[in-house]
Amino acid sequence: MSVTVRSFAKINLGLYIGAPRADGFHELLTVYQTIGLHDVIRVSVERGRGIEIRCRDPRVPRDESNTCFRIVEKALAALRAKERVIIVIEKRLPVQGGLGGASANAVAALLGLEWALKKSLPATEKLRIAAEVGSDLPLFLVGGTVLGVGRGEQVYPLLDLPAMACVVVTPEVGVSTTKAFAEWDRISGADEHEAAETARKLTVPNSFDRMNEPSRGLSAWLSGAFQSHSGAPSRRGRAENPLLDLVRAGIKNDFESVVFPEYPELREVKRALERAGAKYASLSGSGSALYGLFASKVAAERVAAKLRKQGWAAQATATLTRRQYWSRVFGGRSAEIFDC
Ligand code: C5P
Repeated sequence: MSVTVRSFAKINLGLYIGAPRADGFHELLTVYQTIGLHDVIRVSVERGRGIEIRCRDPRVPRDESNTCFRIVEKALAALRAKERVIIVIEKRLPVQGGLGGASANAVAALLGLEWALKKSLPATEKLRIAAEVGSDLPLFLVGGTVLGVGRGEQVYPLLDLPAMACVVVTPEVGVSTTKAFAEWDRISGADEHEAAETARKLTVPNSFDRMNEPSRGLSAWLSGAFQSHSGAPSRRGRAENPLLDLVRAGIKNDFESVVFPEYPELREVKRALERAGAKYASLSGSGSALYGLFASKVAAERVAAKLRKQGWAAQATATLTRRQYWSRVFGGRSAEIFDC
């Protein structure tokens, strides 16, 4: 039995880094958004034991360090299944890019495994296993516009907002997420500050305070988006698309302040997207991918072609609503586990 699953990428619509935690992770506040760019994952099960990863891209590990391997190993144990699993990864997304490629691959492998075995895990169990493999896996079990908190692994489906055209640029640069977090701590003095706060036994460390402002902004946007989505009268000046309302609320990605100084060409890409008329442009996650949101598909395609001429790897795509995401993951078969 062989199952083909599309593994869609995500972008981050704002990302706020909070306090470093005792477990080495950082508190995060972000809005994830799935987009139309994707890899393809084929999962087959046969008699025997073991997990085999096949991928033509030499940068993709084929051992137990691969996220697909790790999630399938955990899922097989949880399902008490004893088959041999072969996972073929057809890579189209950049390997290290801030688009959650490896995380999306793992979730696609998990969903494909369930189909191939004709067995399924409860949604909460899938979320738990996904979070064990990585902070930005669970979002791909929700799809669409998703609120991410905790270390990014606590996910909440937001309203299914209309799709928007976007351009994704994937520079050749590889940014280490771990190093980017460490650099953030260094520039924000979080290490010493948190230690001092803990020593004073304050209950609310200061880095949590900086999350209050974006939390309030997000709540205001959510209540506005809910009103317009539910048919209630929208307030004057509301943008044509609630996603634009979110970005106009002044969201930002904290990683830009540590990644741009180290890789100035990424700042250049953001400026090029803005100059080309992006309604909003940003680094995605810790990079190196950047995206720009555009008013129309035609505008996005024109800008992507222009950037390609300038030597950048740029693709026009669109944000995927939750409904679109789930109908495309299995190429038409519906497997929605969340719908709001
Ligand atoms: O969970 P994930 O494997 O994506 O995390 C990669 C690394 O990024 C972690 O080992 C940690 O150093 C850092 N990280 C963090 N805080 C988060 C998420 C990731 O410090 N919220």
